[in-house]
Amino acid sequence: MKKVLIIYHSQTGNTEAMAKAVAEGALAGGATVVMKKAVDADEKDILDCEVVAFGTPNYFSYMAGMVKDFFDRAWPTIRDKMANKPYVAFGSYGGGGMPAIESLEKICDNMSMKRLFDSIGVQRQPTPENLKACEELGKKIAEL
Ligand SMILES: Cc1cc2nc3c(=O)[nH]c(=O)nc-3n(C[C@H](O)[C@H](O)[C@H](O)COP(=O)(O)O)c2cc1C
Repeated sequence: MKKVLIIYHSQTGNTEAMAKAVAEGALAGGATVVMKKAVDADEKDILDCEVVAFGTPNYFSYMAGMVKDFFDRAWPTIRDKMANKPYVAFGSYGGGGMPAIESLEKICDNMSMKRLFDSIGVQRQPTPENLKACEELGKKIAEL
């Protein structure tokens, strides 16, 4: 059974709704799911999973500070252990598009992690269609 870790931050619930949809899809795909707010996640979590789904809102055209804080804390331990580790990313933005997700992808690329599917960015509150796409993403990563 595949172990999927979902690490996310969300101040007003939009990215959290996406995270929950990814989790539902992953569970439907037969995975075990660990869902953690970035502030509560540490290096052990990411070392102890097979796939990671990162969720970040766009705050000031960058990933949320809490998500960056997770990388800051975990990076010294994980930096040499992430090569080819599969991941996906998702998140919500106001009007400024996806630079937050891109900033996250840069860190993952830097550690040679393997992006499995295109990241999902949605504007503000996810629609039912957006949530369906997140659910499908969760299912796909569980079934790989
Ligand atoms: C502190 C802060 C900074 C933000 N900066 C941006 C920004 O630079 N660009 C943008 O598109 N949206 C920005 N937003 C809007 C959020 O990305 C948007 O409301 C998003 O849906 C929030 O997701 P959340 O509910 O998961 O926190 C900002 C919101 C906050 C609270």
